[in-house]
Amino acid sequence: WSSLVGRHFLTLKYFTKTEIEQLLWTAADLKIRYKQNGEAYRPLEGKSAALIFEKRSTRTRVSNETGFALLGGHAAFLSPADIHLGVNESVKDTAKVLSGFVDIALARVYDHETLLTLSTEGYIPIVNGLSEIYHPLQALADFQTLQEHYGSVKGLTVAWVGDGNNIIHSLMMAAAPLGVNVRVATPKGYEVFPQVEKDAGKLAEQYGTSFYYTNDPMEACQGANVIVTDTWVSMGQEEEKAERLKVFEGYQVNMKMCGVAAKDWTFLHCLPRKSEEVNDEVFYSPRSLAFPAAENRKWTAMSVMLSLLQDHTPTTPKPKY
Ligand code: CP
Ligand code: NVA
Repeated sequence: WSSLVGRHFLTLKYFTKTEIEQLLWTAADLKIRYKQNGEAYRPLEGKSAALIFEKRSTRTRVSNETGFALLGGHAAFLSPADIHLGVNESVKDTAKVLSGFVDIALARVYDHETLLTLSTEGYIPIVNGLSEIYHPLQALADFQTLQEHYGSVKGLTVAWVGDGNNIIHSLMMAAAPLGVNVRVATPKGYEVFPQVEKDAGKLAEQYGTSFYYTNDPMEACQGANVIVTDTWVSMGQEEEKAERLKVFEGYQVNMKMCGVAAKDWTFLHCLPRKSEEVNDEVFYSPRSLAFPAAENRKWTAMSVMLSLLQDHTPTTPKPKY
């Protein structure tokens, strides 16, 4: 067991296998306490959180706001219309001021650098609620969902079909420590960030897993257990939409693609979803774990918030990872 109190949660790159498993175990424990047992567990009574959003959000906002309340604390939702951040006041000053008001802050930002400034200039733990490089809360929810479905994630092969974006970047950082192999199919020019590929390569070496990159979705899906995709046009790339729709032709996840996957294949999507990247037949099929994963955003968000604020010892037996 290692204490995560006081740590920032900006990327899973800095979390070990033990720490990632601990976060997932805590999420599983909280899910049982609240959902199954209806426990009135309020470990964060008196604590407060700032939820800063430069971009819109359904899941990240609602899971954290309601989750923090369930834990007994108070979360303040701050959109660009509410606070000065970066517009009328520097990120540096905002970080210092918020540190005097709240115990923890989550931020969804355009530029990952904003998270780094918040974390170095403030005095409280900072949680990444999505940046252009990473979305670690999503990766945790995805792996909690896969653990629940498969009983264990070790040895699974995950195929990514789509844009080399923040979602696959975070999946990659958690995959290696959890013993999961990853195949990434992206169009030319839309590959994962070179630094992420480099970091992932080091993790793969350390944990004995593999990463494989291709421009052929069918090749990536061949024998894969889990097929994952996301929007082809992330927030902030709207002006590239027409061009991207052309480039990503042939990347729609459909039953033909899933037909070459392993017999036990499942599908994941972080949502929000557009039908160009996955058709209804797959998205609404019983193989799709997109909605269970969306629910797990809440338990994993609560796990992260709680773990960065105080030590929590799960009472439920540790799931197999
Ligand atoms: N998956 C996800 O982060 O969704 P939101 O943009 O709704 O938060
Ligand atoms: N890649 C998407 C994820 C949204 C949850 C984006 O950055 O907009």
